[in-house]
Amino acid sequence: MNIYTFKDEEGFVQTAANQITSLLNANPYAKLGLATGSTPVGLYNKLIEMHRQGLVSFANATTYNLDEYVGLPKDHAESYRTFMNEKLFNHIDINKEQTHIPNGNAEDLEDECRSYDRMLEQNGPIDIQLLGIGHNGHIAFNEPAESLTSGTHITTLQAKTREANARFFPSIDDVPTHAITMGVGSIMKARQIMMLIRGEDKAEIAKRALTGPVSTDCPASLLQCHPNVIVLLDQGAGRYFK
Ligand code: F6R
Repeated sequence: MNIYTFKDEEGFVQTAANQITSLLNANPYAKLGLATGSTPVGLYNKLIEMHRQGLVSFANATTYNLDEYVGLPKDHAESYRTFMNEKLFNHIDINKEQTHIPNGNAEDLEDECRSYDRMLEQNGPIDIQLLGIGHNGHIAFNEPAESLTSGTHITTLQAKTREANARFFPSIDDVPTHAITMGVGSIMKARQIMMLIRGEDKAEIAKRALTGPVSTDCPASLLQCHPNVIVLLDQGAGRYFK
């Protein structure tokens, strides 16, 4: 694992963006695994800026998102499809047909999970998988548990996760209770993983995930077993890594 901490926001987002743009400039057909949430927003803004400056094209890239809420209409303000369109896809030259997000409204959700895995299997591996981390150590929506699921599956969001995400909804009751998420097995198949962690409130979980025991109680700790992981921490999250 290569762990870097950054004092300034600019260095943090520029380093993250460079990982993606250098990959795309070397291989315009790269497969990007993308995440939602607050953490990658600065990175997405930087990618948009670099695209506008002519420094990167996404025209031939394919993207696969980690997860989607179950039951929110696709065009709901807080669906992950809306998030990705608004925060990134609408502002770059990507072909939207090449952007994949699990369908949380599929009539047969189990079938949707199987199709997503089939697609990842046929088109993969993902070249770079972007990840955030939950306060409870989740990656994508793989919540801490006695055992974890390898493939794409339906998950029940833990209270802590729903509370954390309530900031985007009118009230906690509006936060969906379930999501479709890529499993840890699919995430671990990516050629490279880039985890971004920001904020003092993530300092403890960052320490636990990156230096504590590898355990399904902290799904992000499994990344310690992946051969090619880069972790970028901002100053707050990187308190234990100076
Ligand atoms: C989002 C995702 C989640 C988030 C995590 C952190 O697609 O899979 O695991 O990365 O919940 O969220 P933020 O960045 O909002 O703190």
